[in-house]
Amino acid sequence: MWDDDTAATYDQISADMFRPEVVEPAVQLLSDYAGSGPALAFAIGTGRLAIPLARLGIPVTGIDLSPAMVAQLRTKASADEIPAVTGDMATTVVPGQFTLVFLPFNSLSNLRTQDEQVACFRNAARHLRDGGHFVVELFVPQLRRLPPGQFTVPFALDDDHLGFDTLDTVSQECRSHHYIRQADGSFRYNVGNFRYAWPTECDLMARMAGMELVARFGDWDRSPFTADSDKHISVWRKPPHLER
Ligand SMILES: C[S@@+](CC[C@H](N)C(=O)[O-])C[C@H]1O[C@@H](n2cnc3c(N)ncnc32)[C@H](O)[C@@H]1O
Repeated sequence: MWDDDTAATYDQISADMFRPEVVEPAVQLLSDYAGSGPALAFAIGTGRLAIPLARLGIPVTGIDLSPAMVAQLRTKASADEIPAVTGDMATTVVPGQFTLVFLPFNSLSNLRTQDEQVACFRNAARHLRDGGHFVVELFVPQLRRLPPGQFTVPFALDDDHLGFDTLDTVSQECRSHHYIRQADGSFRYNVGNFRYAWPTECDLMARMAGMELVARFGDWDRSPFTADSDKHISVWRKPPHLER
């Protein structure tokens, strides 16, 4: 999914996520939990949040599965500024202990089995100093919009973009289907495959990794998480050794 073509157009196609009103509160929250750092970005991508965080003076290291996405990161930040390793965030170990590990923009759901997601939480805890925090941004699966017998939820009905999710409530597989209008007027189809997890399943995975929930927000601006929130920003802490 994260090949050369996707990587080359990622910043443009995800332009909404690069808007200052999206990036600034996210970087503010991450920097508050990082303190003086260092921070580790799981699924760093092209550095959407990692670069502004590093430019606040917080050392940031990244892990990403896609060499193409890391190559795009390199067009914006050198390896001296933001070292990054190509690898799976569920298993890859980098040197150092971090005050913050962060995993934004639904990327936990790129791990498509519960085992891999559990391993990801364990890998985050492995990289944290005592008292450090793991911050995740993840969608809330829209199960409340599924009447019995229905498994499809539309999320975009614009002239240029038709999008809908199909959800399998047994396997927790989620497929996001996109039809995107091209310059010649035709529509290009692509699909992303994910595994959804309810917020409390994330809490359990964090507990299994020795971490505890300390905050859950409905967005990066720290608005409250409610029954109507369509995503959550969750913060788990690795307790100091004496508290464990
Ligand atoms: C939606 S992009 C998010 C990138 C960046 N964090 C952001 O917020 O813009 C998802 C990223 O997850 C990466 N990714 C997918 N599966 C991964 C895995 N198992 N380990 C590490 N990175 C992964 C992809 O290569 C891609 O860069």
